[in-house]
Amino acid sequence: MNAGIIGMGKYIPEKVLTNFDFEKMIDTTDEWIRSRTGIEERHIAADDEDTSDLGFYAAQRAIEDAGLSPEKIDLILVATVSPDQAFPSVACQIQERLGAKCPAMDISAACAGFIYGLVTAKQFVESNSYENVLVVGVEKLSKLTNWEDRNTAVLFGDGASAAVLSKVSEGRGILSFELGADGTGGKYLYLDENDQIAMNGREVFKFAVRQMGESAINVLEKAGLQKEDCDFLIPHQANIRIMEAARERLNLPEEKMSKTVHKYGNTSAASIGISMIEELEAGKIKDDDILVLVGFGGGLTWGAVTIRWGK
Ligand code: COA
Repeated sequence: MNAGIIGMGKYIPEKVLTNFDFEKMIDTTDEWIRSRTGIEERHIAADDEDTSDLGFYAAQRAIEDAGLSPEKIDLILVATVSPDQAFPSVACQIQERLGAKCPAMDISAACAGFIYGLVTAKQFVESNSYENVLVVGVEKLSKLTNWEDRNTAVLFGDGASAAVLSKVSEGRGILSFELGADGTGGKYLYLDENDQIAMNGREVFKFAVRQMGESAINVLEKAGLQKEDCDFLIPHQANIRIMEAARERLNLPEEKMSKTVHKYGNTSAASIGISMIEELEAGKIKDDDILVLVGFGGGLTWGAVTIRWGK
């Protein structure tokens, strides 16, 4: 039996920063941001809210959604590139807050982190090592943002999502996966000497357009499925143009792709989970639907999974 998602939760900080707010801060326009990225606004965590706080709230909700109590969690994996500090890990901080007693570690795979987390969880569940694994994707990128750099500041937002993985019924769960990394592209997206995000947008764009479509098709093939079997594409929410390119590679109609980038910007490791939860809340994902989750990020890293939805 495959590992699958049995509960999810998200947390979005309250404060909203719109494109019009940016017009007052830097040399940019709502029109530019909207047409080049699809982003209209993003949420920013409060000064007294750090990454572990956001992650904890999402984790609590996911565990509750799974119908479990924290003692039942056997492993905590937190995908983040914006930890409160280098150590203790965000995973250990969340473990303490939950009152859980299991092993806990962070995963650093930038915006592909949620997929890396799901795939790691799958290995532990399917090898019968652990029954329930909590995966959290969380970022407070606002603390790594250079607010004077219009090339990057407008792109990112804060948020958290979490999923509990466990064995699900025959034929459901994570059917296939692909993970990848290319360290030679590390120079295109990194934290600079001031601990601020630096990026070569054009290079990342080219990589992402190629990789998202390719990985989505690869995982469908690995699951013995065709493009037309995909009921819902849930791509990393970095830029609507990148997402659209992936959708077109799969020949999917617009309504079959999840889109939250306009509301939250790029929340890195949190974005795929947040988008998926919003589709679930809207009742758009049904039992036995085939979902393709696909992401890319700094590293460079990428990953995708095919899921047949349902417990
Ligand atoms: N407002 C106004 N102008 C801006 C701007 C902003 N916020 N940000 C950049 N520009 C300018 C640039 O300075 C450049 O000006 P120049 O030609 O005078 O130097 C111009 O816009 C066009 O730049 P270009 O690179 O052609 O824009 P683009 O259409 O490729 O869009 C990105 C830029 C960043 C939106 C796009 O490259 C992108 O999304 N890349 C991927 C980034 C990403 O997803 N990162 C996260 C990965 S997880």
